[in-house]
Amino acid sequence: NLRKIVIAIDGYSACGKSSTAKEVAAILGYRYIDSGAMYRAVTYYFQEHHISLTNPKEITKALEQIHISFKVNQKNGTDTFLNGLSVEKEIRKMRVSEMVSQVSTIKDVRTAMVDQQRRMGRERGIIMDGRDIGTVVFPTAELKLFMQAEMNVRAFRRQQELLERGQLVDLDDVIENIRQRDEIDTTRAESPLRKAEDAIEVDTTYVSFDEQVDEVVRLALSKIVIPAN
Ligand code: CDP
Ligand code: CDP
Repeated sequence: NLRKIVIAIDGYSACGKSSTAKEVAAILGYRYIDSGAMYRAVTYYFQEHHISLTNPKEITKALEQIHISFKVNQKNGTDTFLNGLSVEKEIRKMRVSEMVSQVSTIKDVRTAMVDQQRRMGRERGIIMDGRDIGTVVFPTAELKLFMQAEMNVRAFRRQQELLERGQLVDLDDVIENIRQRDEIDTTRAESPLRKAEDAIEVDTTYVSFDEQVDEVVRLALSKIVIPAN
């Protein structure tokens, strides 16, 4: 006896949210949505179109022009599309990372993204990661996780990820970027990053990737399987 649930994963930058969510989604046959990729795509659009972050009218107009979608690629990953074009590579670059948290403080940007995210979750059977998924986007999600890990471990893992994408970034620059984003994300007025009261804390510092995937799958199954009686 199975039911479709909503799984929300929030937490700091680079502690393993998206890679874990992607793997767990594949195992459960769930849809995975990377909400951070949406904020990154908006940021990329703003940069390409020289949108001023202090001009609300410009921002409103720009948001009307932005259509974000996801497509599963051949390597079992997900590509992010902005107005029909893949921006997966561009949105992972440091140029976007350096501006995305600033863009994500803007109320209109958040409202537009949260609307889309809720639409994507209507059919349930979804796993979404971000900063405000358990607190704002899906406050009634059946399973909420709050991920963390020590800074040095997070920075090293992110540096490796960037390297695999062909980007050589100094570890100090990665640490600096993660620190700045965590600071902005946790202190902004509009839906700041915080642990939902009913979220389960997962620390990934000392566990292997496979162990953390197993743990999340186990937690998910305990909510998915309805005892027969
Ligand atoms: O993967 P990484 O931890 O680097 O970040 P991300 O998940 O791609 O998110 C990039 C940025 O988008 C975050 O630092 C937040 O500023 C913003 N974000 C947000 O405000 N709300 C979300 N639900 C997801 C991301
Ligand atoms: O989404 P978030 O920014 O929280 O993190 P991520 O993009 O999933 O990046 C975490 C990186 O650390 C990925 O390359 C994972 O494969 C790797 N990793 C992990 O998540 N957990 C471990 N226990 C070991 C490595």
